[in-house]
Amino acid sequence: MAFPSHRPRRTRQSDAWRRMVRETRLSADALIHPLFVVPGRGVRHPVSSMPGVSQLSVDEAVNDARAIMAAGVPAVLLFAAPQVKDAQASNALDPGGLAAQAIAAIKDACPQLLVWADVCLCGATDHGHCGHVLPGGVIDNDSSIETLAQVALNYARAGADAVAPSDMMDGRIAAIRELLDAQGSAATPIVSYAAKYASCFYGPFREAAESAPAFGDRRSYQMDPANAREALREVLADVEEGADLVMVKPAGPYLDVIRRVRDAVSVPVAAYQVSGEYSLIKAAAERGWIDERAAVIETLTAIHRAGADLIITYWATDVARWLNA
Ligand code: PBG
Repeated sequence: MAFPSHRPRRTRQSDAWRRMVRETRLSADALIHPLFVVPGRGVRHPVSSMPGVSQLSVDEAVNDARAIMAAGVPAVLLFAAPQVKDAQASNALDPGGLAAQAIAAIKDACPQLLVWADVCLCGATDHGHCGHVLPGGVIDNDSSIETLAQVALNYARAGADAVAPSDMMDGRIAAIRELLDAQGSAATPIVSYAAKYASCFYGPFREAAESAPAFGDRRSYQMDPANAREALREVLADVEEGADLVMVKPAGPYLDVIRRVRDAVSVPVAAYQVSGEYSLIKAAAERGWIDERAAVIETLTAIHRAGADLIITYWATDVARWLNA
């Protein structure tokens, strides 16, 4: 009986072979490290649901930014949790507000490190929703995108290298692009959280960003996890409106969406390995049930293989160190 002529094991025989035929290569160049900023000085407040992640005051965020850059990670994604929260999201609109301060301080200390600023209302509003709330609890789209554009302009003027709207209101990319262009920030790119799902995996983040909604949930603006064709509509609309990069979020449970988006657009595609994806692996590793480093490399490789050019992950700096060790 003739043996099959294909023996895929031939090129798996040694590490040298496996390295040579590897189809997907992780690189620190593709990683973005999230940072959570809070008021104060010398503050490093551990996020209990995300072991290894802390809320940082601006001075400590600058220290972390230096370490992130030294490890070879090219960008951070900045979230601010100001103390004063109100219906207008005033702190996010204030040129002296927490996010604006953090952007300026990090750019001052690390001019080469890219600072992406998350643009949303949830961290700065008293109700914790990503847009303005009308009487009766409806989230109002069109007044929200005006405010989001003002927030984006504030962050661009503070020195952000990109603004990253994560609110999922309709038409916000066009509104932001128009205002940035009209107000002298035409060179600032927009990283759109284009296909962002209403996911349970954001749970731990809401502790870190102090952004849990005070009532209801985000399902009237974030996407239904059951939908993939709709993700393409969202992404194509955002590209049409002027998004320079698009994002799929979460990452691991949405690999099919990442692949479809990668095949549908020509702009860079980012994927966000979110807080819950992080905490699951951390918790299992703490119990000795899984090898953390192997799980991180495998999940990030899968996200990259699915089509993500760039990956936002809380392990960005660790991975950069592992890859360069
Ligand atoms: C804010 C925002 C969220 C995340 C990023 N930006 C939370 C949410 O939409 O509730 C989640 C990130 C993570 O879980 O790591 N709109």
